Amino acid sequence: MKIVCLGGGPSGVYLAISMKIHNPEHEVEVYERNRADDTFGWGVVFSDQTMENLRANDPVSAENMIGELIHWDDIDVHIRGEVVKSSGHGFIGIGRQRLLDILYARAAELGVKLNFETEVELDDLQTRFADADLIVAADGLNSKVRNNNLEAFDCDIDMRPNKFVWLGTHQRFDDAFTFIFEETEHGWVWVHAYQFDKETSTFIVECGPETYDAWGFEHMSHEESAETCRKIFEKYLDGHDLMTKSAHIRGSAWINFPRVLCHTWVKDNIVLIGDAAHTAHFSIGSGTKLGFEDAISLAQHLNSGEEVKDALVSYQDERELEALKLQSAARNSMSWFEELDRYLDFDPTQFTYSLLTRSQRVSHENLRLRDKDWLEGVEKWYADRAYKAVGKDKPAGRVPPMFTPYKIRDMELANRVAVSPMSQYSAKDGLINDFHFVHYGARAMGGAGLLYTEMTDVSADGRITPGCAGIYTDEQMQAWKRVVDFVHGHSQAKIAMQLAHAGRKGSTKVGWEGYDMPLDEGNWELIAPSAIPWDDGNQTPREMTRADMDRVRDDFVAATLRAEQAGFDMIEMHAGHGYLLSSFITPVSNRREDEYGGSLENRLRFPLEVFQAMREAWPAHKPMSVRISSTDWCGEDGVTPEEAVLISKAFVEAGADIIDVSTGQTLPVHKVNPVFGRMFQTPMADQIRNVGHVSTMAVGNIFETDHVNSILAAGRADLVLIGRPHLMDPQWTIRAAAEQEYHGPAVQVPKQYLTAFTQLETNLKRAAEMALNA
Ligand SMILES: Cc1cc2nc3c(=O)[nH]c(=O)nc-3n(C[C@H](O)[C@H](O)[C@H](O)COP(=O)(O)OP(=O)(O)OC[C@H]3O[C@@H](n4cnc5c(N)ncnc54)[C@H](O)[C@@H]3O)c2cc1C
Ligand SMILES: Cc1cc2nc3c(=O)[nH]c(=O)nc-3n(C[C@H](O)[C@H](O)[C@H](O)COP(=O)(O)O)c2cc1C
Repeated sequence: MKIVCLGGGPSGVYLAISMKIHNPEHEVEVYERNRADDTFGWGVVFSDQTMENLRANDPVSAENMIGELIHWDDIDVHIRGEVVKSSGHGFIGIGRQRLLDILYARAAELGVKLNFETEVELDDLQTRFADADLIVAADGLNSKVRNNNLEAFDCDIDMRPNKFVWLGTHQRFDDAFTFIFEETEHGWVWVHAYQFDKETSTFIVECGPETYDAWGFEHMSHEESAETCRKIFEKYLDGHDLMTKSAHIRGSAWINFPRVLCHTWVKDNIVLIGDAAHTAHFSIGSGTKLGFEDAISLAQHLNSGEEVKDALVSYQDERELEALKLQSAARNSMSWFEELDRYLDFDPTQFTYSLLTRSQRVSHENLRLRDKDWLEGVEKWYADRAYKAVGKDKPAGRVPPMFTPYKIRDMELANRVAVSPMSQYSAKDGLINDFHFVHYGARAMGGAGLLYTEMTDVSADGRITPGCAGIYTDEQMQAWKRVVDFVHGHSQAKIAMQLAHAGRKGSTKVGWEGYDMPLDEGNWELIAPSAIPWDDGNQTPREMTRADMDRVRDDFVAATLRAEQAGFDMIEMHAGHGYLLSSFITPVSNRREDEYGGSLENRLRFPLEVFQAMREAWPAHKPMSVRISSTDWCGEDGVTPEEAVLISKAFVEAGADIIDVSTGQTLPVHKVNPVFGRMFQTPMADQIRNVGHVSTMAVGNIFETDHVNSILAAGRADLVLIGRPHLMDPQWTIRAAAEQEYHGPAVQVPKQYLTAFTQLETNLKRAAEMALNA
């Protein structure tokens, strides 16, 4: 085959090498605009695993690299005069120039023709390279080939706001990958630094756009920028300079990171590889690894006997998911640095934990494997603070974050796990029965610190379905009191009632008979802020009058008083998921032109009025939460997470103690673009907590002990709600205690079940040991 590689970066050269290894008969040429000894940038990092992949593909170049690699295990984080050191992270670094020297030498030895100082123009593809069987576009981040064919490659390029500059220094950072966060007179500036050869370290400086403008970096020469950065970080540099190597960049040496996502990597006989196909933010150091692995895969498919066009499709099929996974982790990491302001007030211990877990690929237990002592120090820090906040001494021994206490007003929770509100659709005329008694009783004995009732409606017409529970009669209140008394009598769980009115989502079938579908008969009138049906087949609600609002507010107050009579410890106002109060807040269902529609202030007016009336009726020593949908999943057309911060703050000002952060369900799912996935709503709980300075509960696809501990220790939420996992396994929280060999006061195993707990703990321990030794 005749192959032309555009670009002599790591991806292009490694593809050339891999092709020659498979078959020396291939004719492979590389075209690179720079000189062989004149690359941009300083060093690169990758992991031991990447090195193993390289060794399996080409032992010769891998062996040559191994002799040059700088290896380190620690990460140091400098912030506010403190250094937090953690270990076990396992990186390797090498100079970019040295890496390329090794690859160029190996390529030449294998017979690859290397053309340096040769700028490839687009016309060349049709002229000079017209006889090539394959053109490999390995022309990097700003790929000309890709940028001129954005549609064909179905490509999104998202230019990120932060600015960064890639500098070098002879100061040594050889004992740790080092992050330095420095507050300057113009805002925070930070560094990602690592040693890559005996004398030199990479020193990437990054800051937000406002700080960049305030410093005037845009108008500085490359040398002036380096000198300004040197002054900012002088105390870390021991008299060493910062050096630039960015003459190829015109204007300021600082650049924005483009997040590149191509859905198609192949066009005719052109294939994208490395940064030309996808970028991964430099903060997770995986760009070079992705390029190498693309090259290995592409060469394998091209030499597998498949037709070239099929081989190219197989290559994309194989690599795309892997690249997406890494890009998703890189995106989390990049966002963390873009949203750094949220975390700068954290204690250095928690700040470091948040930094280390930012990509969501490193979890709590993963950190334990890396550095047990450090992680236990974090757990102790978290537990000491939690126990101090409730005025108690931390018990001896290890206390995982999830098993620390939390106090809201006078209500003290023994641990930070709550059973999320889950409708059971099994009541009759709003009256709960023995099913509910057993259901809630079992979950109360399952170990969670807080147990929510299902959405419980404040009036008969406020029900979603005929099976929904209510608290609008004294008989219903008495039935709930029986549940509450059991919970208080047989567990240390606290119990909260979620109060709601279904609004335009009411009068539908129970979930398993047709979710959101109107009843076949016996429908009742619906009310809503505007006369807009939920979906095409649903009843059109009547637009509420002020008299309707008075009635609904009074129903919420009456339900609040009954919840108090029933003995609940806490109540939650449901202002999420498109039900009545939520449908006032979101513009997707509120088109009113009076003082209850339009601006956010107007849209919040009625929900806040209801909340305030409930707060007055509910005892001052008992807490209240509000569940919100923190995004409608339809961008600026609906509630955005930024607006959710304002919504949360408004409820807190009105007396709410904690916000229960859910999302969506304000429009039918086929009309929006929700992004589901592990812990998918936690970023909003984090944003509301750390931008709005409001206590939050995280919920949504949180199903492992590890998730709960990670969310809490990273300060992303104060409590964690578990829904479906606690439905399926009433003892989910007790199981989590067994898994973590926790025997402290936060989890009370019913004495009748103690022997079962012991057996579970032994079995889980054995299974964990077997998995480790497998
Ligand atoms: C600040 C920063 C830090 C980074 N840190 C790391 C890290 O620690 N670890 C890591 O793995 N990755 C890191 N990366 C990413 C890494 O540099 C890239 O992912 C990697 O270089 C991709 O390799 P590539 O061969 O696809 O592209 P590149 O390395 O960009 O190579 C493309 C080559 O094509 C040449 N070229 C482009 N257009 C033409 C043309 N028209 N004609 C001729 N030649 C052309 C360019 O000169 C260049 O040499 C970092 C990136 C940045 C910006
Ligand atoms: C069957 C079912 C019933 C639910 N009922 C309610 C409810 O009554 N009130 C509410 O706010 N959320 C309700 N939800 C949403 C859950 O409280 C929770 O937010 C969601 O299931 C995500 O958490 P999970 O992934 O832990 O299940 C319900 C979810 C399911 C699956």
